[in-house]
Amino acid sequence: MAQKRQSWNSRFGLILAMAGGAVGLGNFLRFPIQAIQNGGGAFIIPYLVSFILLGLPLTMIEWSTGKLGGLYGHHSPPMIMQKLDHHVYWRYIGAIGLFSSIIISSYYCFIESWIFSYMLHSLFGTFNGMTELQISEFFDRYLDLSISVSGIPFDTFISFVFCLGLNIFILSKGISGGIERVAKICMPLLFIFGIFLVIKSFTLKAGEDGAIFDGTLGLNFLWTPQFDSLTNPKVWLAAAGQVFFTLSLGMGAIQTYASYLKKEEDVALSSLTSAFTNEFTEVILGSSIIIPISIGYFGIDKVIELTQSGGFGLGFRTMPFLFEQWGTVLSTLAGVAFFGLLFFAGITSTLSIIQPTVAYLSKSYDWSQKKSSYITGTFVFFLALPCVLFFDKGVFDEYDYWGGTMSLFLFAMFEAIAFSWVMGIDKGWALINGYANIRIPKFFKYVLKYVTPTMLILIFISALIKPMNDDWSLISIHGWELDNSAIIAELMHKGMAPDDPNIAYIDGARLYLLFLIISIWLTIYITIRVRKKRIQTKRSESTI
Ligand code: PHE
Repeated sequence: MAQKRQSWNSRFGLILAMAGGAVGLGNFLRFPIQAIQNGGGAFIIPYLVSFILLGLPLTMIEWSTGKLGGLYGHHSPPMIMQKLDHHVYWRYIGAIGLFSSIIISSYYCFIESWIFSYMLHSLFGTFNGMTELQISEFFDRYLDLSISVSGIPFDTFISFVFCLGLNIFILSKGISGGIERVAKICMPLLFIFGIFLVIKSFTLKAGEDGAIFDGTLGLNFLWTPQFDSLTNPKVWLAAAGQVFFTLSLGMGAIQTYASYLKKEEDVALSSLTSAFTNEFTEVILGSSIIIPISIGYFGIDKVIELTQSGGFGLGFRTMPFLFEQWGTVLSTLAGVAFFGLLFFAGITSTLSIIQPTVAYLSKSYDWSQKKSSYITGTFVFFLALPCVLFFDKGVFDEYDYWGGTMSLFLFAMFEAIAFSWVMGIDKGWALINGYANIRIPKFFKYVLKYVTPTMLILIFISALIKPMNDDWSLISIHGWELDNSAIIAELMHKGMAPDDPNIAYIDGARLYLLFLIISIWLTIYITIRVRKKRIQTKRSESTI
C-alpha cells in the first residue's frame, strides 16, 4: 500500500524543526573550541566569509533540491540526487549522504546520552564538593562501560539505549506529529537556558566566586579581529569545516526535511531564516558561554592548552567544576541549564539525522513511518555498538573522520556540481526563487555557479594532501610531507606505531563502514532491478 505523503503543519514549525536540526552540539561545544584553537579573533573572519560563500549557497541548494525531490515523492538523498539528473549513478552518489547520516546518527546519539546523564547528575548534585581532578576523572569513569558512576550497573549503556529509544519513538510519530512537535517544545527551552547562562557569563566579575578575570576577557579574545589570519589555510579549513558541521550540510538531513515542503511553499526566505537562527545561536549564544566562563577562571593560555587535548574536555571535564564555584543552588541550576540546553540541542539534531534513513527505508520497501523508524533504530543500535564498546580504542574518531567530516565535503562537492553544472544554474536558480517570499540577490547566482563548487573542490583536495603541521608555504613542496590527518595519511595509519594495539580496532571500524556503504549501494541496485522487472512484467502482461 502506498504511504500517505507527510508534510509540515506550519511554516513556523518547519523553521523551528530545521533550525533545531542545525542548532546542535556544534554550536555550543565545537564552535567555541574551534575558535579558541584557531586564535579567537583570527577565526571569526574566515568563519563569516565561509558562511556566506559556502554555508548559505549550500543551504539553498539542499532546501531547493530537497523540495524538488519531495514533490515527486522522494525523501532521501539517493533519490533526491537522481531527480537533478536522470542518470542512475546520481542515486549511487546520493548514497554518500545517506551513509554520512546513518554514521553520524550512531555516534551523535551516544554523545546525546552522555549529556542526558550529566543533566541528571547535575540535578541530583553528584558534582557537589568534587575537586577539579575528581570531576575530570568522573568523565573517564563514565566512558568506561565496566564502571558504574551512579550505582546502577551499565549506566552508560542504559543511558545510550534510552536516548536512542526516545529518538526512535519521536520519529515513529512522524514529521508533524513527532519532529515538529518536539522542536516546538525544545527550541524555546534551549533559548531560555541559553540566555540564563549568557547573563551569568557576562556578569562574571574578577575576584567574585573565585574568578580571576571578568567574563569580558574571553569575549574580547574572540571578537577582536586579526586580519593576518586571512592568509592561513589552516584557519580557513577549520572555519569551513565548522560552517559545514553547524549548518548540517552534506549529510542529507536538510534535503530530507525540505522534501516535506508543499509545492507552493517558499524556499528562499525559510532557508535563510533557519540558517540565520542557527548562526545567531552559534555566534551569539555559543560564543558567550564556554569561552567567557572558562577564560574568566583560567585565563587565555590555560584554556588554549585545555582545548589541545580534545574536543569534549571543556564541556564535560571543566564546566561542571566551574559551575561548582557559584554555590549549591546556582551551580545546580547552571548545570541543569547547560546540559539541558545541550540535550535539547542534541535531540532535535539527532532526529534530523536519523530521518533520512527512515525515509529511505519507507520509500524503498513501502513501509510505514513507524515500521521504518523501528527498523532504522535497530540498525543504528548495531552500528553504534562498536563505537560505544570501543570508544577509547579510536573507533569513535574513525566514525567521525570518515562519516562525519570527509564524506560531508565529498557529498557537498557533488551536490554543488550537480546543481549548478549538471542540472544547470538557471534551473537551479528558478527552483530557489519559485514561490519565494523574498528576492535573493543575483550575486548568489554567480557564487553558486563558480565560487561554491571551486571552494569545495579545493577543500577536498586540501583534505587529501594536507601538509605536515599545516605548512602550506611553497617551500614545503620540495619535501611535501603529509600531515597525519590528511586523507591519504589516515589511510596508511601515518603517525601510529606499527604495533599500536588500536590499529586492529581502527581497521575493524573501517571494514564495518565499508560494509555499510556497499550494503547501501547493493540495496539501491536491487531496488532498481526489482522495479525494472516489475515494469517489464506489466508491459508483457498488457501486450498479451
Ligand atoms: N548542525 C549540527 C550541530 O551543530 C550537526 C549535526 C546535525 C550533526 C545533525 C548531526 C546531526 O551540532
